[in-house]
Amino acid sequence: MEREAYRPQEKSGRKRCIIFGVVAGLILIVVVAVVLGLALRPNTDTLKATFIARCKEFKGYDCEKLWGAFEQAYVGRDPCAVPPEAYDPFIAAADFKPACNRLMFWSKTKDVVHDFTEKKRDCFLTVEDTVLGSVLNGLTWCGKEGSTETFTTDCPGWRDCVNNTVGSFWNRVSAAFADAACGDVTAMLNGDIDTPFNPTSIFATIEVKRFDSSKVKSLTVVLVTKKSAVTNCTNASLEDLQRELKQGITYNCKDVTEVQLQECSSNPERPCGACW
Ligand SMILES: *[C@@H]1O[C@H](CO)[C@@H](O)[C@H](O)[C@H]1NC(C)=O
Ligand SMILES: *[C@@H]1O[C@H](CO)[C@@H](O)[C@H](O)[C@H]1NC(C)=O
Ligand SMILES: *[C@@H]1O[C@H](CO)[C@@H](O)[C@H](O)[C@H]1NC(C)=O
Repeated sequence: MEREAYRPQEKSGRKRCIIFGVVAGLILIVVVAVVLGLALRPNTDTLKATFIARCKEFKGYDCEKLWGAFEQAYVGRDPCAVPPEAYDPFIAAADFKPACNRLMFWSKTKDVVHDFTEKKRDCFLTVEDTVLGSVLNGLTWCGKEGSTETFTTDCPGWRDCVNNTVGSFWNRVSAAFADAACGDVTAMLNGDIDTPFNPTSIFATIEVKRFDSSKVKSLTVVLVTKKSAVTNCTNASLEDLQRELKQGITYNCKDVTEVQLQECSSNPERPCGACW
């Protein structure tokens, strides 16, 4: 009797154990599915949220419309078949107005130039400081044939193909930025490297070629060095740069140390252009 009384209990204990196991297993499956789903989910929402938030920092833009113009460049396309022209509608929607005497171009000086323009915002603008470049600075995106989603991982880059989604964007945006140049234009180049005017850079292959001599009066190269300069304004690559400029555009070059720049940008009283 005791045994009989015990067995059903033991049975129900085992049953409870099985039910618990099944429930735990189901919960585990659901958790894994949710985690995987989140990880593998296309990132349209994340990229769009960042884009819109950054766009809203600029006045006078319909940010949803700008996103729409941007997105149509690559959504549903092979990410290696997005040429720069695909972003023409985005460029048109951004409608970046010429900014005389304030445009700042750069090559291999990313940190120092942005540190500088951030403090001297009223004086100089890099493309990343404008709505054109700011909305996607530092981000990666691409589409896929037959999909309406935006992906932010496993997107091809320059190593994979010429007409890649992200590279074409920066080429197109840089061209638009150079088209807006007028008056006195500045370019911050790196004096700590052997060839400050690198013929394969965006500055050399796109921007310099688009400076319009009917609008651009002069180009001033600010050649920045940290401590021991590798090169200076006499470097032959800068002669190549002068040859690239259309007739009528005056060329200047100034050797400047990073310390001089920092000292100048931390002093808000200093007028624009007085840092070199
Ligand atoms: C990239 O796109 C352009 C169109 O802008 C086209 O002429 C060119 O052939 C493409 N290049 C490659 C390698 O697909
Ligand atoms: C510039 O660099 C060259 C060597 O590349 C050197 O001979 C020259 O003295 C330097 N000029 C200045 C002003 O530092
Ligand atoms: C200066 O420019 C030339 C030609 O672009 C380059 O080959 C050379 O190594 C550069 N640098 C120095 C420090 O001379």
